Amino acid sequence: MLSLGAAAQAQSPYFEPSKMIEAGVYYYPEAWPESQWDRDLAKIADMGFEFTHFAEFAWARLEPTEGNYDFSWLDKALDLAAKHGLKVVMCTPTACPPAWLSTKYPEIFLMKNNGQRSQHGSREHYSWSSSKYRELSAKIVTEMAKHYGNDKRIWGWQIGNEPSHYGTVDYQPEAVARFQTWLKNKYGTIEKLNDAWGASFWSLTYNDFTQIALPNPEKQTSGMSSQHSLLDFKRFSADECASFLSAQKSILKANISNKQFVTSNFMHNHFEVDARRSNDLDFVSYTVYPVAGYSKGLGEQGFRLGDPWRISFSNDYFRPIKGVTGVMEVQPGQVNWGSLNPQIYPGLVRAWLWNAFAGDLKFACSYRFRQPLYGSELYHAGIVGPDGITPSSGGLEYEQFMKEMRELRKQYNPKATNPKDYEARRTAVLFNIDNLWDINIQKLTYRWDSEKNLMGIYNAVKSMGAPVDFIAEDADFKKYKMLITPSYQLLDSTLVAKWTKYVENGGHLVLTCRTGQKDRNGHLWEMPLAGSISKLIGGKVKLYDMLPDDRTGGITSYGKQYSWNVWADVLENDPKTEVLATYTDQFYAGKAAVISRKLGKGTVTYIGPTTNDAAFEKSVIKKVYSAAGLSVIDLPDGVIMEYRNGFGIAINYNSIAQEFALPVNAKIIFGSKTMAPADVLVWKE
Ligand code: GAL
Repeated sequence: MLSLGAAAQAQSPYFEPSKMIEAGVYYYPEAWPESQWDRDLAKIADMGFEFTHFAEFAWARLEPTEGNYDFSWLDKALDLAAKHGLKVVMCTPTACPPAWLSTKYPEIFLMKNNGQRSQHGSREHYSWSSSKYRELSAKIVTEMAKHYGNDKRIWGWQIGNEPSHYGTVDYQPEAVARFQTWLKNKYGTIEKLNDAWGASFWSLTYNDFTQIALPNPEKQTSGMSSQHSLLDFKRFSADECASFLSAQKSILKANISNKQFVTSNFMHNHFEVDARRSNDLDFVSYTVYPVAGYSKGLGEQGFRLGDPWRISFSNDYFRPIKGVTGVMEVQPGQVNWGSLNPQIYPGLVRAWLWNAFAGDLKFACSYRFRQPLYGSELYHAGIVGPDGITPSSGGLEYEQFMKEMRELRKQYNPKATNPKDYEARRTAVLFNIDNLWDINIQKLTYRWDSEKNLMGIYNAVKSMGAPVDFIAEDADFKKYKMLITPSYQLLDSTLVAKWTKYVENGGHLVLTCRTGQKDRNGHLWEMPLAGSISKLIGGKVKLYDMLPDDRTGGITSYGKQYSWNVWADVLENDPKTEVLATYTDQFYAGKAAVISRKLGKGTVTYIGPTTNDAAFEKSVIKKVYSAAGLSVIDLPDGVIMEYRNGFGIAINYNSIAQEFALPVNAKIIFGSKTMAPADVLVWKE
């Protein structure tokens, strides 16, 4: 079997397969005296980095006054990068409009939901819907593309920076007009929109598209806007982002060599925009900051170690979009913007880089080389400290990683494959961001957390040693023996038919709570609850329930007890459908919590409850793997494991040492079986 790594490398003209992964770092020549550039870029190369990253915030230097472009300083920096053997990722600078632009064209500012325009003085305050901003962006991008598009020293391009960093909500008048046009294109007639939005409810009926405002709950006395309009607003905003990127991509592609790639760097857990809408880029890259106060991690030192599966999730979420991805920003050490910015666990930066390698990434780039001495990122770590020369602990770990990578490349084998049992359990997670948006618009319980729900299922699968690809509805499901669709609230009969066929042909489908309740417009079906999937699952979703945070409900499955609290679909099985778990209390004690049936050559399993630690969900999914004839492993808590290019990689994100059960024929390359926190183990079989 061809490993995913080999398949992806075969597709991408931008990366040398034998290098496997390359490391880079952001450098801002505009922020440092020119006399230091040579020294800094030499140091970057000396430390083992292979590329650097320029200019995503440099518009004010590149076009100091309107129409006057100055690339001379960047040319010098590029010469120096090349002198030291560093490739360059060049960026379009549209994340930071210069002061002259903001002053002369205030219509480019984004408008908040209270009607207030943003102002100059920070970054990313422009509106994607502003025609003037699009026009001025097109000009600078064209100039840059002409200047650098055939320069062999440029590896590729990044468009802007982290689209959606500060959200997507924009109420400026052009956004309203574009929303109306978007709706007209989508629905054709106002009657169709009225139907889709259920506008006869509360007399919301529109006579014309021009009457439609951007839904703004802040302006409603009820504090609510129609759910259907909110869902379309989300879709529209994500489309605005994608079209803003796409416009720049087209300019770049028309002017640059086909050896240079074009990407943008999406935030890893920002479900405001939809990276899948940007699949016209050569690939989508991502950014990740795992330790910034938002995760307790595992155990006493967990706050310094972060969520074990956070980087893996990003790898698996972004890579399948184009078969290739890289991480454009990884935290170099302490950051300054988190709710808590602790020292990160020693060794963890290196562990993250190995985690990027493990996820088949083509590059890992650190944000940033030098620790800033001024500006909004004071106290943010760099690869070197405030003196500009002394490597930080993160810097030393990058150095170590690149040394190790140069060693590992000696063992690179283009024909290497990953173990068969590992590839056999490769699992697809079907993802359509509409589901997450729609549930978030109306959660029904304050306890619902869509990201946690998704991560619970993902973590459960990964902790059994399964590689995962997040896929979209148009993907070929047949490539996977296991297909999981977490809380897939919106669907249509075409998707149900595709699922049914997949199962009949031997696939194993796992659906989880809240699936199939609505159509694509977010309307309930005119049938019993989730009636759209009753036939497929061989049963019914009789009712759903939720509990306050001081109460738990019980579940029993094969003699084991579990508890739930956030959400429970209470099920009823058809005669030939098996019950794998039942509720033990509430007025529906004894009713089904999980049902499973054979259909054709495959199986369908519906998991009714969502639990806090997903241990219950894991126990059910494990049974499905086993029924499918797939072997799984039980990784120690907090230990991740992957294979890439035939190399095995394990990393311990737990606060305590963990023992890793190495395959018998494994030869250790780095590390040891007893893994201290943040330890990495690399082997070959
Ligand atoms: C990222 C952003 C970078 C930088 C970094 C600081 O989210 O893209 O430009 O601000 O955070 O940690």
